[in-house]
Amino acid sequence: MKTAVRYYSRGGSTRKLAEAIGRAVGVEAKTTDAPLSEKVDVLFLGSAVYAAGVDDKVKAFIKELDPAKVGKVVNFSTAALLPSTYGQVQKLLAEKKIPLDEKEFHCRGQFAFMHRGKPDAADLENCARFAKEIVKG
Ligand SMILES: Cc1cc2nc3c(=O)[nH]c(=O)nc-3n(C[C@H](O)[C@H](O)[C@H](O)COP(=O)(O)O)c2cc1C
Repeated sequence: MKTAVRYYSRGGSTRKLAEAIGRAVGVEAKTTDAPLSEKVDVLFLGSAVYAAGVDDKVKAFIKELDPAKVGKVVNFSTAALLPSTYGQVQKLLAEKKIPLDEKEFHCRGQFAFMHRGKPDAADLENCARFAKEIVKG
């Protein structure tokens, strides 16, 4: 199964998840500045919540995605308060008719004095386990 990992992270929390997923499935985690170069079965896509929304870079990345190159997207995210970016990503992908797995990974990310140290080692372990389960099918 071919996989890719793309993420957008301002503070590094979502990047930590992306790198844990990359290690777990054996691919390099890249930012959303790197377009997909080849067709993949699973695209792990990471984002975070900023003022209740995902960053424009995530929107632009999805807008540029070639539906023929993506079997399905698996969402992962961090936020201080919101439960996930799933709904927003789902809407953007629906416009492109790209399938989104109903399973996702989300955990708290550090924000000023909130959730210090998050994601922590346990989050990264859970995230890696989640990614392995996804690719196992
Ligand atoms: C400018 C800014 C605005 C934010 N707004 C929200 C918000 O509206 N809701 C929320 O749950 N978290 C919010 N957060 C917290 C981030 O979602 C959280 O810190 C996340 O882990 C950041 O991911 P990153 O380190 O990968 O950039 C905000 C963070 C920043 C920096």
